Amino acid sequence: PPNLQMVEEDLGLERVNCRAKGASSGFKVAILGAAGGIGQPLAMLMKMNPLVSLLHLYDVVNAHGVTADISHMDTSAVVRGFLGQQQLEDALIGMDLVIIPAGVPRKPGMTRDDLFNINAGIVKTLCEAIVKCCPKAIVNIISNPVNSTVPIAAEVFKKAGVFDPKRVLGVTMLDVVRANTFVAEIMGLDPREVDVPVVGGHAGVTILPLLSQVKPSCSFTQKEIDYLTDRIQNGGTEVVECHSIAMVLCSSIMFESAFGCILQAKAGAGSATLSMAYAAVKFADACLRALRGDAAVVHCAYVASEVTELPFFASKVRLGRNGVEEIYPLGPLNEYERAGLEKAKKELAGSIQKGVSFVKK
Ligand code: NAI
Repeated sequence: PPNLQMVEEDLGLERVNCRAKGASSGFKVAILGAAGGIGQPLAMLMKMNPLVSLLHLYDVVNAHGVTADISHMDTSAVVRGFLGQQQLEDALIGMDLVIIPAGVPRKPGMTRDDLFNINAGIVKTLCEAIVKCCPKAIVNIISNPVNSTVPIAAEVFKKAGVFDPKRVLGVTMLDVVRANTFVAEIMGLDPREVDVPVVGGHAGVTILPLLSQVKPSCSFTQKEIDYLTDRIQNGGTEVVECHSIAMVLCSSIMFESAFGCILQAKAGAGSATLSMAYAAVKFADACLRALRGDAAVVHCAYVASEVTELPFFASKVRLGRNGVEEIYPLGPLNEYERAGLEKAKKELAGSIQKGVSFVKK
C-alpha cells in the first residue's frame, strides 16, 4: 500500500505533518484493532470529534486502507496508520487515550468467555507496549471478555510497576446505551432523557441494571423488570444470534437448521459493531472532556474498585484529569437487585481470577 506519509512529504505537504507532530491543541488518541467491525466506525466517529488532534489507527491487517479512507474526511484530526507488531510502539508513543477493540468477536453459540483464549494474549501484548510507550495514557478496553481483559491489563501494568487504577477502564457503556433504549421504549420516553445505572460486569448475569434507580424515576411491573433485565443482559446475544423455532422474519438473512429455523441478526458474521462504536465514542468523548477539565463527567465503567469485596467492578464513576477520580457506591438496592448482585459477584470472581492467573502463570 502507498505510504501516505512519504507521499505527503514528496508533495511538500509538510504542514500536515507539522500539525500531526505538534498537535498541541487537542488530544492524541490511538485505536488498536482499528480495521475491525468496531474499529472502523469507531475511527470514523473519533475523526469527527473536535477534541481529537491526532488519531493513530493500528491493526495487524488493513490499517493503511482504513487510514487512507478516514483521512479524507475534512475534519481537523490528523490520521496516521500503523500496520503490524513492528509499528505498534510508533502507534502508541505520546498518546493521551488508547482505545482497544482488538480481538475476535463472538459467533452464534459462543459466550464472551469462549473468546478468552485468543483475546487474553492480544490484550496482554498490547498492554505491554502501552507500558513501554505511554504508561500514563487512559486505556479504554473493549475486547471481550471485558470481565477478564481488564484484570489482565491491570496485571501487566502491575508487573511493570506502573499500574494506576484510575487509568484502566473497561468499557461497559453499550450495556447502559441498551438499557436506556429499552427502558425508553417501554415507558414511551426519549432515550436521551433516560439514565439507567448498569453495574457489575459485561457478560450475562454480571450485567446488572439498577432499574430502581432509573432517571427519570419510573415504576415497572415485575413482568417489565424481568423482561428488561433479560433483554439488557442478553442484548449482545440478540445481535449475535436470534433463535426461533418458528418461521419468523427478524432480519434480512435467514438460515435453516435441523430443528427449524434459526434467524441470525448478523448471520454469524460478528457481534455488535455499530452500536458498540457509538457507545465507545460516547465513553471516549467523556474521557477526553474529563481530561480537558470538564466537571461532573459521570458514567458507568468496569474498574479496579472497592465498591464490593471484588477487586474489579462496574459502577458509576466520576472522570477527571487523571482518569477515574471517584467511584460511587451502588446506592439502595431492592431485593431483586440484591439477588442479582450475588449472582453477578459469583461469576465475576471467577472471570477476574482467570485474567489475573493468565498473566501470573
Ligand atoms: P473484528 O474481528 O471485526 O475486529 C477485530 C480487529 O482486531 C480486526 O481488525 C483484527 O485484525 C484486529 N486484531 C486482531 N489481533 C490483533 C492484534 N494483536 N493487534 C491489533 N489488532 C488486532 O471484531 P469486532 O466485532 O470489532 O470486535 C472486537 C472485540 O470487541 C471483540 O473481542 C468483541 O467481543 C468485543 N466487543 C466488546 C463489546 C463491549 O461492550 N465491550 C461489545 C461488542 C464487541
